[in-house]
Amino acid sequence: VGKEDAEYLVSLIGSTPGFPKEGIIFRDFMPVLADARGLDILLRGFAAALPIAPEDFDTVAGLESRGFLFGPALANKFGKGFVAIRKAGKLPPPVFAESYDLEYGSASVEIEQNAIQPGERVLIVDDLIATGGTARAGADLIEKAGGVVAGFSFLMELNGLDGCAKLSEAPISTLTAMP
Ligand code: PRP
Ligand code: ADE
Ligand code: MG
Repeated sequence: VGKEDAEYLVSLIGSTPGFPKEGIIFRDFMPVLADARGLDILLRGFAAALPIAPEDFDTVAGLESRGFLFGPALANKFGKGFVAIRKAGKLPPPVFAESYDLEYGSASVEIEQNAIQPGERVLIVDDLIATGGTARAGADLIEKAGGVVAGFSFLMELNGLDGCAKLSEAPISTLTAMP
């Protein structure tokens, strides 16, 4: 996408200081989805910035919830299917589970055990990477399920948290970085 489109996309991202807790600036990409031009730039931007060639992945996996909002559309652009990595307790058994640390406490994500074929190459997508805990857990699940993590795509990287350092096994693309 061009410079003007990229700037327009970033201008749509909302920022709310102090949510959901003191010291955090919440970065909201819902206004991007709500805007017809923004949504189009988002999907074209992800496609143009893919960290790997389309022939080098078989499937897109999205991280609940926000990764579900554009993952299937992106997968369809490349003639691929979409696999859901869900928060705990939502998918019918058998599932593989992976726990990860948040800023306080911990959470768990799951994938259906038959969701991935042996050796299937998976592109993991989400709206943003902060500490990288969510994406790390998602990648570990893909491996547990017999897949290979081929790449990671995010709209935003939050600066200063070094989340991408947790994802050393595959190439990463981000469309923008924010404090
Ligand atoms: C947000 C965001 C990423 C994750 C990034 O999801 O959508 O998935 O945080 O943080 P991390 O890199 O520190 O793990 P959240 O868990 O708030 O839930 P949601 O997608 O359901 O809104
Ligand atoms: N997930 C983790 N950190 C976040 C932030 N600052 N804004 C929105 N979602 C987030
Ligand atoms: Mg999320």
